[in-house]
Amino acid sequence: MNNTSWTQLWLDYEKKRGKVSLDKDNIAVLIDGFTENNRIIKSIKNELLKAFKGLYGKEILFAEKESSIDESTYRIAITKSENMASEGYLIDAEDKGIVINASDENGALYGVFHVIRELMRGTKLREIKAECKPSNPLRMMNHWDNMDGSIERGYSGRSFFFENDNFYINDRTRDYARMMASTGINGIVINNVNVKDAATDLITDRYFFRVAELSELFADYGIKLYLSLNFASPIELGGLKVCDPLDEEVIKWWDEKFAEVYKNVPLLGGFLVKADSEGRPGPFTYGRNQADGANMLGKAIAPYGGIIIWRCFVYNCTQDWRDRKTDRARAGYDYFKGLDGEFLDNVILQIKNGPMDFQIREPVSPLIGGLTKTNQMLEVQIAQEYTGHQIDLCYLMPMFKEVLDFKTYCSKDKDTVADVVSGRTFGNKLAGMAAVINTGDDTNWTGNYLAAANLYGFGRLAYNTELSSEEIAREWVQMTFNLTEDETDKLVSMLLNSRGIYEKYTSPLGIGWMVTPHDHYGPSVDGYEYSRWGTYHRADHLGIGVDRTDKGTDYAHQYYPENAESYNDPDKCPEELLLFFHHIAYDRKLGDGRTLIQYIYDSHFEGEAEAEELYETWKGMEAHVEPEVFASVCHRFEMQIANAKEWRDQVNSYFYRKSGIPDEKGREIF
Ligand code: GCU
Repeated sequence: MNNTSWTQLWLDYEKKRGKVSLDKDNIAVLIDGFTENNRIIKSIKNELLKAFKGLYGKEILFAEKESSIDESTYRIAITKSENMASEGYLIDAEDKGIVINASDENGALYGVFHVIRELMRGTKLREIKAECKPSNPLRMMNHWDNMDGSIERGYSGRSFFFENDNFYINDRTRDYARMMASTGINGIVINNVNVKDAATDLITDRYFFRVAELSELFADYGIKLYLSLNFASPIELGGLKVCDPLDEEVIKWWDEKFAEVYKNVPLLGGFLVKADSEGRPGPFTYGRNQADGANMLGKAIAPYGGIIIWRCFVYNCTQDWRDRKTDRARAGYDYFKGLDGEFLDNVILQIKNGPMDFQIREPVSPLIGGLTKTNQMLEVQIAQEYTGHQIDLCYLMPMFKEVLDFKTYCSKDKDTVADVVSGRTFGNKLAGMAAVINTGDDTNWTGNYLAAANLYGFGRLAYNTELSSEEIAREWVQMTFNLTEDETDKLVSMLLNSRGIYEKYTSPLGIGWMVTPHDHYGPSVDGYEYSRWGTYHRADHLGIGVDRTDKGTDYAHQYYPENAESYNDPDKCPEELLLFFHHIAYDRKLGDGRTLIQYIYDSHFEGEAEAEELYETWKGMEAHVEPEVFASVCHRFEMQIANAKEWRDQVNSYFYRKSGIPDEKGREIF
């Protein structure tokens, strides 16, 4: 065990020294066909030096020509081969060593990280073989960092980009870029979607220099920098009276602004926009629609090759719930479906995985695949806003896999979410996945050491949606820790089970919310912040759940008929989503014969007990985990167990009091 400070996460090569061995004595790296002084090639060389030094204490040579490598030296050739997919790579064995073929620098970089990953996992150099290409062209992290240094929904300290309206750009920023590139991330939005205060100035000369500097650093690792944009900038920065997207002066203002931005920050990827949502300005103010807003920006940015990522998280948070049809879940589809086909080619819609807001269980947003003529990408959240604040263990890849595997029925084949958001279904060039990131300036980056599994996992999954949650978890555990095989298996299972456990002790069967308003940690059964006219979950003395069938809000019919039919019918609806779609009587029998109320009691008791088991299993790993890491994770588990108890007791007693039906097993309900 070494006493690392965990600043390197899964790229801590030193930690593996003595744990992995090299099957070859002398190693030379031959770079063939790529320009040696290309920025990414330079990063590749640095990374290989660092990795071989860290892992084996070995210096490696860089050779320019085959002939300069002697016979006893094993070579890693990084070779440009035009016929490879963009950002993909092929690793194969040759007589004299292995070769990483790629058609571009990003592919070469990912191939090199693949080799390093396998070495860290104990694979012999000569046995490394792979053929990989990215599932998604855009693989992005979205920071919700504010320029004062705070992070919206941040659970790992403060921003490592900003403090007091200034930038940090330092070794840690470089480590961050390395880590992101090692998983396949190629785009990063550095500031919060709620663009206020100094962040509005990111597109002015107050910050151009720093934004440009950061974009250069990212570019060293094949990553494009993006900014979140304030739609009201023409008013706030330009002194105009309006920000109406059809106003000539506004259009001219943006044309000039983007010319200025790209002159100063030529490497900028483009902008992410949250409009007309939760108090943010947008086209609705002027009676315009979302396409008017997005296209105005898309047109202005087109000359520079930039893109506009327009979020579909548009809803009226002040709407009145008393109306039978009013349903926040409907909003995204209602606002965007009618605009399908109207967005420019360099505009892409970013759609949250569910129709509400990152709950532990939601159906997939019907907009994904519901749109057939529009670029679209998936947005998920690895910041654990509703999933335990990085106190509770909640490995999210199983949830993301379910979303990706969901069959939308939008086409005869290639109709899963993974197909749609990768661009395979409708042939979109702009397509992909984004995650709201879970990092901060905590030394270990993610607050809970184990939450780094989500940071690693999202990048890997976005690069290759075919990977299983288990494969990703195993890679991360093997690279991050020095556990025995048995312990590795146990930690992998802990991760895989954690989402189900969290779901059991929180809100049941897809109903969601029941969480403290605004803060979103811990139970508050009636606490939904936007339901001034009643509870979100509609529980009464007879039953619980939101009727989203044709007799209720009819949200169920926003899906293609195959899904609509099953969601609309309580007998066909997948049980885990039953209360999302239906108002169900407490005494209704579920699939296994238990009543709904009994299911609620049982799952809450089980969830809490299983959280305790997670902790027990973790305790068994003490011998092979650094003491401070072990202790810190123990502390988190203690908090998780307290949280699980609170959820169990509040939810169970709430429903016991509402329904008057006792627990069949006679357990104590407080
Ligand atoms: C959630 C979250 C907000 C965030 C918003 C968004 O509602 O609580 O903090 O701004 O999502 O995705 O824009």
